[in-house]
Amino acid sequence: MKSRDRVKAYGEVFTPRYMVDQMLDLVSEDLETAPDFVDKTFLEPSAGDGNFLVAILRRKLQAIEKHYPVKDWPQQSLFALASIYGIELLEDNHQEAQAIMLAEFLGFYRDHGIHAGTETDLQKAAAFLIDTNIVRGNTLTAQTVEGDDIQFSWWHRIEGQPRMVQREPFTLASLRDNAGFDFTVYATYRPCRIEFVHHEEKA
Ligand SMILES: C[S@@+](CC[C@H](N)C(=O)[O-])C[C@H]1O[C@@H](n2cnc3c(N)ncnc32)[C@H](O)[C@@H]1O
Repeated sequence: MKSRDRVKAYGEVFTPRYMVDQMLDLVSEDLETAPDFVDKTFLEPSAGDGNFLVAILRRKLQAIEKHYPVKDWPQQSLFALASIYGIELLEDNHQEAQAIMLAEFLGFYRDHGIHAGTETDLQKAAAFLIDTNIVRGNTLTAQTVEGDDIQFSWWHRIEGQPRMVQREPFTLASLRDNAGFDFTVYATYRPCRIEFVHHEEKA
């Protein structure tokens, strides 16, 4: 807990690490061993300081290390980031959640002696995906704190082109709506290599 007031106002009580791990053990196949584990999507609707999000990322990165050659790590680790979504109402928690995700991602490369500095597309793409997927807003109203619709994106792989991604934005509201995703309403993006996704080239 950060404060009693925040517990009362926002129900802010953080799940301890051991419990996060026990809960993720229940979906370990999706996280670590299924053939398409990298792309299995997770949404944390009350992300707090990112304790679930980072544990999900850590497990996916460890599984990538195990199942893929080093040359594929950049693309697979970025697709792993692209599969993890979060929403958090409070500014400090939201910032912590984004920061801890980037630190985990960069720590993975640092631990393996692979350069992923601020000038690299790897870090820029990672920061962009985290920024786009982990949003500050209200899950109940599906709106940002500014009152706009919360917008997410699907990051589709392109068959036969393993490094390429096709971004398709949609609103959280449409995800919950019987009418289905409102993909067509939003900007369309050119397919691109996932390391260059932060360039946001429009179609
Ligand atoms: C019980 S804590 C859980 C945090 C984290 N999921 C965990 O298990 O440790 C709930 C979190 O949801 C956030 N929250 C409360 N109402 C929310 C809402 N309507 N939309 C998004 N986040 C909300 C709070 O700020 C708090 O960080």
